[in-house]
Amino acid sequence: MGAEDKDGFPQEAEGFTPGAGGVPAGANGLPAGADGLCQGFPEPPEDASLDDSVLAGLGSGLRGVFITFEGLDGCGKSTQMELLAEGLRERGYVVLVTREPGGTPLGEAIRDILLNPRYKGMAARAEALLYAAARAHLVKEVIRPALEDGQVVLCDRYLDSSLAYQGYGRGLGVEDIITLNVWATECLFPDLTLFLDLDDAVRASRVASVPDRLEAEDDDFHRRVAEGYRKLLLDHPHRIRRVDASGSEAEVQARVRAVVEEELGLFSH
Ligand code: TYD
Repeated sequence: MGAEDKDGFPQEAEGFTPGAGGVPAGANGLPAGADGLCQGFPEPPEDASLDDSVLAGLGSGLRGVFITFEGLDGCGKSTQMELLAEGLRERGYVVLVTREPGGTPLGEAIRDILLNPRYKGMAARAEALLYAAARAHLVKEVIRPALEDGQVVLCDRYLDSSLAYQGYGRGLGVEDIITLNVWATECLFPDLTLFLDLDDAVRASRVASVPDRLEAEDDDFHRRVAEGYRKLLLDHPHRIRRVDASGSEAEVQARVRAVVEEELGLFSH
């Protein structure tokens, strides 16, 4: 692996394959301190079947494929995720679509707390822990079992939202947020993350008229989150792919599928 920058992320990802659900220790930009938590994950099988070939080299030992969608409010990721799910189902994949925070009754209850403007001023660490708690439950109850079953899991937001919003937006730092999430998810990381990039003016026109607790934060917070995503894109070019989210739904979907095909080959099998 290449040299590490100040956040502990590899600057070059020599020989690094994007992914993955439970990547080998230290191979996915995890801080050194988090390495011990990731040990003991199985090697990918040598006799790769068709499904396994999609995951070749990812080292998760899980049969499915895990794709997450990221972006700022109003970038259109939920719509694009649904369109991708449709396309994959037409190809014969079993696809599970879920979201964060949420996706389970407990997760939705935690979501209600997190987004409720009544809790304005929630301590940043409490916020990070609640997002991680919702994620821990979703991973254990929904995502990991689906991946073990060989399904394609599409998740609206995941780790990178915590890095952008809590790590950068709240200033908690990416290293602690990664460490927290390594523990919360037992090292389950996406095979591919798509960042849907859309102009501020277009996004603003789509944002809900009654803002939730996060949307109601001031411009500085949203600027730090946006800059955080930019930094994540720069620091993690092999893990996060930027997708231009301007244009019609169909145009954006074509770009999404092109990236999914390029990275994971899901449309050519
Ligand atoms: P949601 O309505 O799902 O936002 P969107 O439709 O834009 O995806 O609300 C989720 C909010 O929670 C959103 O503002 C981003 C924020 N968030 C975090 O701050 N940290 C996280 O880890 C996650 C998953 C979301």
